[in-house]
Amino acid sequence: MTIGLPYQEPTLPIGERIADLIARMTLAEKVGQMLQLDARQDVAGLIEHYHVGSILHTSPADMLVAARCVQQTRLRIPLLTADDCIHGHSFWPGATIFPTQLGMACSWDPALMQRVGRVVATEVAATGLHWTFSPVLCIARDLRWGRVGETFGEDPQLIGDLGVAMIQGYQGDGLADPTAILACAKHFAGYSETQGGRDASEADLSPRKLRAWFLPPFERAARAGCRSFMLGYQSIDGVPITANEWLLKDVLKGEWGFTGTLVTDWDNVGRMVWEQKTQPDHACAAAVAVKAGNDLVMTTPGFFDGAQEAIRRGLLTEADLDQAVARVLRLKFELGLFENPRLPDPARQAAVIGAPAHTALNHEVARRSLVLLRNDGLLPLPATRPLRIAVVGPNADDPHAQLGDWAGASGQIDWMPDGHPRALTCTVLDGLRALAPAGSSIVHARGADIAVMAPDPDGTTFPDGQPRPWVARPASADAPLLAQAVAAAQASDVVVAVVGDSIALVGESRSTATLELFGAQIALLDALAATGKPMVVVLLSSKPLVLPPSALQAAAIVCAFNPGMRGGLALAELLWGHIEPSGRLPISFARHAGQLPIYYNQINGQHGHRYADLSQEPQFAFGEGLSYTTIVCSDLSIAQPECGLGDTLRARITLANTGSRPALETVQVYVRDLVTSVTWACLELKAYRQVWVEPGQRVVVPVDLPVSDCTLVNARGQRVVEPGEFELLVGTSSRPRDLLAARFSVR
Ligand code: NOJ
Repeated sequence: MTIGLPYQEPTLPIGERIADLIARMTLAEKVGQMLQLDARQDVAGLIEHYHVGSILHTSPADMLVAARCVQQTRLRIPLLTADDCIHGHSFWPGATIFPTQLGMACSWDPALMQRVGRVVATEVAATGLHWTFSPVLCIARDLRWGRVGETFGEDPQLIGDLGVAMIQGYQGDGLADPTAILACAKHFAGYSETQGGRDASEADLSPRKLRAWFLPPFERAARAGCRSFMLGYQSIDGVPITANEWLLKDVLKGEWGFTGTLVTDWDNVGRMVWEQKTQPDHACAAAVAVKAGNDLVMTTPGFFDGAQEAIRRGLLTEADLDQAVARVLRLKFELGLFENPRLPDPARQAAVIGAPAHTALNHEVARRSLVLLRNDGLLPLPATRPLRIAVVGPNADDPHAQLGDWAGASGQIDWMPDGHPRALTCTVLDGLRALAPAGSSIVHARGADIAVMAPDPDGTTFPDGQPRPWVARPASADAPLLAQAVAAAQASDVVVAVVGDSIALVGESRSTATLELFGAQIALLDALAATGKPMVVVLLSSKPLVLPPSALQAAAIVCAFNPGMRGGLALAELLWGHIEPSGRLPISFARHAGQLPIYYNQINGQHGHRYADLSQEPQFAFGEGLSYTTIVCSDLSIAQPECGLGDTLRARITLANTGSRPALETVQVYVRDLVTSVTWACLELKAYRQVWVEPGQRVVVPVDLPVSDCTLVNARGQRVVEPGEFELLVGTSSRPRDLLAARFSVR
């Protein structure tokens, strides 16, 4: 028994405990300490054979096995346990599953995100997990990318605000807090800049572009104390991120002073050998990864022999390893795991998982996540008059589509084949049934299917043994299903058509080539539109899709990005006007996949502003979203339009509610730099404020903007304010017609 050794002595400084422990570790134990392996296979073997420092994807039962096995080890170094609890504890049956990040981003509300982070941490910590691989700080670019729904959208400012708030929620009062979990800013950096939406393809980014738009949310995360970063899969200008010393050492650890832990993404080290083909074998790959500053190597079992071989070959020294091992151990000491390994706690689980207060917060978030995109006056439906409602479409009653990716049965783990308990998810159909005024009738018809799955013709596994996802083929129209839906519509007063994507078309390695509604959904919408019945289209999807004319001409369109367990109820509340629609898009919708990438902050300089065959305008713009009233903006003024670099611009704008219902309006503040030394974004979001405006009320909203925020990244890669003329644009979306402009100049 090793009791009373210096590293086990809590009163000693952490540095001394680390040094003592490292001195006792064998080479194999050190290499193992750097490994984070997949606990879906033989968790005991991972501990005994590989001496793993960390595990992920551990079932509730294996969590207990792992804890017992650690007790049998020589040094009893506690495990760091991790998983992707990215909108709730994805893989714990009955945990609170919130809308996806993209759904939550529609709230434009950092304080709400912090509360979500706190609740998730409280539930996750009770299950014995110490670490969530969240938040995603990637900037959504090509909408065909399968992971757009995991992002907070397309704008670096909004992403940074929401991401930092979520990190603060996860990490609570600090890692010593037993309800805190480690946050992980991912995927550092530029992973979303795919080519053609292809997952993990080389990102064509210059250091300047990285600094301009991709790095700022990560810099804010680092400076806000996020204790871990995950490195993207992809390469930039030929260098895999895992080997990118400039990004990891010079920028992250050097310039930003990050002292936390770096974890690779899934088999990044192995991928340098078998996928990117930049290293001949695991020994060379291990040496490069350690030298670049990686600490934990996710799911590359070959690192175990590879790193030891690298030392034998002189590619790496044991001192190089010691630095990484020290960082992993530091995290464990900071979490206090040597004193309290934070094992699963059944009493706490019973008290917190799915607790009523968490469900209530989830409900609030779901309400805030919905975006009303069109309304010809059909909505809100009369709250007391009975209606005959046809609820149609493949996503009207599909709990998996409602929860989205990383939620139980979404494919990453095998102990929840049916997903979360069905009763916990209120689908749109459930919600409408619950809230329909007395005397209403609700008829449900699926009407169409989305995808038919087939094995990948290239084989069942990738070269590293990982399963290849099945291939989605469009489901063809099924005449009896369609006829049922049309009959339901014909016999109704209003049709609620819930269409979108399904888990088969979402996620890692599941980018789509197209954005149109898949399968038989367009045929369904066309047939419903042909009935002439008033129709509400609910887009229940992971990301913006291209809508057909039959949807765009519907009486109303509501966007619900995987709105979580309470999504259906919130949606029903919105349709009947129990709540005010307040969500605003954190991302642009394309009219056609050929418009991609279609983000609002495009760089100035191209011939004209349209294609020969299509406008370049998005279908729905960043920041857009309707209320059940009209808000008119007027009188934008700037108190002192001549400013110095250290000044704060003080402006005001008046909002008038000219309708009969209240609104929660998001006043958006953009800046346009009129002449720049390098080509720059045509406008950029700098701030936003949310204000309640009662019917008939006029509210003067102050807008304060530090001039030091009006930056660009110059040709030397420096972020600076360039004196000169600027435009302040304030309004209710990024569309020019929704913005008022006022000039200011910086001396
Ligand atoms: C791969 C994904 O890219 C990453 O986001 C996730 O955290 C890890 N797998 C672990 O599941």
